Amino acid sequence: MFERYLSKDTEMLRSSEIRDLLKLTEGKKVISLAGGLPDPSTFPAEEIEKITSDILKNYPERALQYSTTSGIVDFRKELVNLSARRGITGINENNIFVTVGSQEALFMIFNLLVDPGDTVIVEMPTYLAALNILRARKPNFIGVKVTEKGPDIDELERKVKENISNGKKPKLMYVIPTAQNPAGTTMSLEDRKRLLEIAEKYDFLVVEDDAYGFLVFEGESPPPLKALDKSGRVIYTGTFSKILAPGLRLGWIVASEEFTHELELYKQNVDLHTPTFTQMIAMEAIRRGVIDRQIPKIKETYRKKRDVMLSAIEKYFPKTAKWSRPVGGMFVFTWLPEKIDTVKMLNEAMKRGVAYVPGSSFYYDYSGRNTMRLNFSYPSPEELEQGIKILGQTISSYL
Ligand SMILES: Cc1ncc(COP(=O)(O)O)c(C=O)c1O
Repeated sequence: MFERYLSKDTEMLRSSEIRDLLKLTEGKKVISLAGGLPDPSTFPAEEIEKITSDILKNYPERALQYSTTSGIVDFRKELVNLSARRGITGINENNIFVTVGSQEALFMIFNLLVDPGDTVIVEMPTYLAALNILRARKPNFIGVKVTEKGPDIDELERKVKENISNGKKPKLMYVIPTAQNPAGTTMSLEDRKRLLEIAEKYDFLVVEDDAYGFLVFEGESPPPLKALDKSGRVIYTGTFSKILAPGLRLGWIVASEEFTHELELYKQNVDLHTPTFTQMIAMEAIRRGVIDRQIPKIKETYRKKRDVMLSAIEKYFPKTAKWSRPVGGMFVFTWLPEKIDTVKMLNEAMKRGVAYVPGSSFYYDYSGRNTMRLNFSYPSPEELEQGIKILGQTISSYL
């Protein structure tokens, strides 16, 4: 009855076939490698309880009041310091913009920058929820293949040139250089520099999603593009979802003042400001060293779980499969032999007791039909081992 009243924009929101399928796992004995949730055992509930009651006792009038659109200033100053720990320097609180999760950050950035028909570059695969925001902007997509090392930079330059010669100059590239979701890949420092050189040469903006930058558990986390950005063309997003708790819904943007001013005008229409209360909780969590204590704990938890998943894959997957070996984040991506269609295989896998996300969801053109994303942060080690075993058997039955 309602459908005829809905705006044209909502066509993009129709529930996908895969989401419907995955809903069938709810309440059933299916091991889900499909999710993307942090491990709740890492949430510092007691410390947050103490912080919350201290705030309400000491600053109730501030915490429960409206506040500024760009985020409370003391918190933005803490975020300047937190950014410095990712190597981002030479900024002040006016370069920081606080958002309701990095999801809102991406929503506002893409809405501010992309008109229908504009050319945008995305990785193939890339983060689904970002892709959905972009799809709603109806752009001309350029897709750059992700290999085990991250986006193929030669292909990036070739496709940029090709599109420019066809009159389609790219406006921006959306990229997740570290512990990519879904691919689990991390770009080398050299590729990061090359990507920026190309952005400079062909004059497009870079939207850098650093959701997992603090969660590299093997080797050093390479500097984000924003730390290497000399001309201010990188717009950076960060989040508290993976280092504190996603339920707080807190993210932030680092960008030029010119752009944070545009964000301010936009956010006034969306939700006026990010909740004052949660900003104060996160600010205290930084000041009391909660984040510093959290990060190594989370990394250790995920490193162990990654090891369980990778050794199970090694044991149970056919040798013709390829998979990423993530140094951080929450996902392993798998490339199966071409003849396997992971969308079609999902039903069978679920019947046998395991779910995953078919990789095609993460490709702007729904290609990548032989790929899938596997989450290791949420399931228990036993579920990871058992889930991969069932999945290996399912794959083998299709070969
Ligand atoms: C790459 C990436 N970007 C952004 C987000 C959004 O996270 P949030 O809105 O919780 O900050 C996620 C969440 O899974 C993600 O994986």
